[in-house]
Amino acid sequence: MHGKGVFARNRIPAGERIIEYKGERISWETALERAEAAGQPIGHTYFFSLADGRVIDGASRGNAARFINHSCEPNCEPLEHADGRVHIYALRDIEEGEELSYYYALIYEGRHTAAVKRSFPCRCGAPSCSGTMLAPKKRRNKKDSA
Ligand SMILES: C[S@@+](CC[C@H](N)C(=O)[O-])C[C@H]1O[C@@H](n2cnc3c(N)ncnc32)[C@H](O)[C@@H]1O
Ligand SMILES: [Zn+2]
Repeated sequence: MHGKGVFARNRIPAGERIIEYKGERISWETALERAEAAGQPIGHTYFFSLADGRVIDGASRGNAARFINHSCEPNCEPLEHADGRVHIYALRDIEEGEELSYYYALIYEGRHTAAVKRSFPCRCGAPSCSGTMLAPKKRRNKKDSA
């Protein structure tokens, strides 16, 4: 889908806990400073938003979970537990060799203009692909990764 990805080396049954999303826990303010300092395109980060408003930065002390790409028809989902740890679970049976993905549900508060959507392009290739990693504004999902 994009750059590096994570692929199943074995068959993974539905519901299995696959990997923790590890990394340094930072404020959104720090995350934005880091994104700016890194000079990456706005749509490219290893951030995972937590319920308490902080962010896991997978680029700092992270693991392979940071390489899991977004898909509009994902085979995994992230779950944040009461202790603030995040694990990635299989949404369905995943065959050996399949790329793992979850729905990022990126929230962008401003107007979703064509230019903004182009900053967060989705190349998941799913039949229902929306063309952007941004969640439609009305969905208001709490999970977010950028
Ligand atoms: C958590 S990283 C995933 C690993 C990434 N492929 C890499 O090589 O670093 C998230 C970034 O990967 C890219 N990405 C993930 N899923 C994508 C998709 N479906 N289409 C296009 N780019 C994607 C975006 O740049 C996003 O900010
Ligand atoms: Zn897509």
